[in-house]
Amino acid sequence: RFYAVIPAGGVGTRLWPLSRAATPKFLHDLTGSGHTLIRATYDRLEPLAPGRVLVVTGQAHRDAVVTQLPEVDEGNVVIETEPKDSGAAIGLAAAILHLRDPETIMGSFAADHAISPDSLFREVVAEAVHTAATGRIVTIGIKPTYPSTGFGYIQLGEPLAVDGAPHALTVRTFVEKPSEEVATEYVASGEYCWNAGMFVAPTALMLHHLEAAQPELFAGLMEIARAWDGPDRDEVVARVWPGLPKIAIDYAVAEPAAAAGDVAVVPADFRWDDVGDFAAIGRLNPAGSGVTVLGEHARVVTDNATGVVVTGTNRLIALIGVADIVVVDTPDALLVTTADNAQAVKKTVEQLKASG
Ligand code: GDD
Ligand code: MG
Repeated sequence: RFYAVIPAGGVGTRLWPLSRAATPKFLHDLTGSGHTLIRATYDRLEPLAPGRVLVVTGQAHRDAVVTQLPEVDEGNVVIETEPKDSGAAIGLAAAILHLRDPETIMGSFAADHAISPDSLFREVVAEAVHTAATGRIVTIGIKPTYPSTGFGYIQLGEPLAVDGAPHALTVRTFVEKPSEEVATEYVASGEYCWNAGMFVAPTALMLHHLEAAQPELFAGLMEIARAWDGPDRDEVVARVWPGLPKIAIDYAVAEPAAAAGDVAVVPADFRWDDVGDFAAIGRLNPAGSGVTVLGEHARVVTDNATGVVVTGTNRLIALIGVADIVVVDTPDALLVTTADNAQAVKKTVEQLKASG
């Protein structure tokens, strides 16, 4: 039985001041679809796993997530008391689902990506599920367009010849966030895909690799999962969660499982963007000669403004005689920049943090 898991955490510094601790990226509509990224993620997955979507998020975002996804029942909303990165989030989902049904095949899907069209996405995931059923951790591969140091790289192997998954391949190596030099080599070689940040696997295999590579994390998560559907949950979580190792699933499971020969990949050609910075928002909302406005209540008037992407709240914004800029207005901070400076936002945020 296939279960979809949506880990929703992380802040996204390069999207400041839109994305911050209280309002992370997944709670925004960054594609102009009229839906937040987490809602769009849910809608994309629901037909593949009707009534079987589980979300893992922080205490601080519980209410916002429940408002976004009212259909998900309480038992499928997993709340963390503090962020412990994707290893703990996805590992806990694996452990809970496994104890409920040890035959489960789970798929973990980032809450904050822009993907289209949904139909092609679902075909690729269906292939990944068929491949996972043969006892593999299955990744989705995206053709790289530049040597990003923010992604995982998947070295493609041989065709697997799995029924229902004509495109599945073995994976030789999985390397999370290589240096720029190494990423440049990988892209030039033509042998690598980017990891789309999705993992489809039998829960049993996911937990097997977690136990082998991160025994402490595994033991803590199993203890919590055993108490999850019972009366001692809060006590066990309070005692065990704070001490769990903080590590991303890519290091905790994907790299070691690939080294053991247990990872496969389905290369995908749907449109995929991790919406990591304001350049991505510009790409996804090609304002061209016009003005793209994001934000449900945004009020924007323009005169002679071109190529502008603006996100607003309910404060009136007037843009006159400006070109090719990004304007991000929030209640307590305003950012004006250009898509070319997207990476520099992180530096400013770090300086702000350092200066308190
Ligand atoms: N619940 C919860 N708690 N979710 C978390 C936490 C946490 O503490 N930390 C991260 N997540 C969620 C994020 O919301 C996202 O949905 C997913 O886990 C991946 O975490 P990111 O922090 O966004 O990872 P990344 O972008 O640096 O790298 C991953 O995604 C890339 C593609 O965008 C990796 O899988 C890379 O290999 C991949 O290329
Ligand atoms: Mg990410």
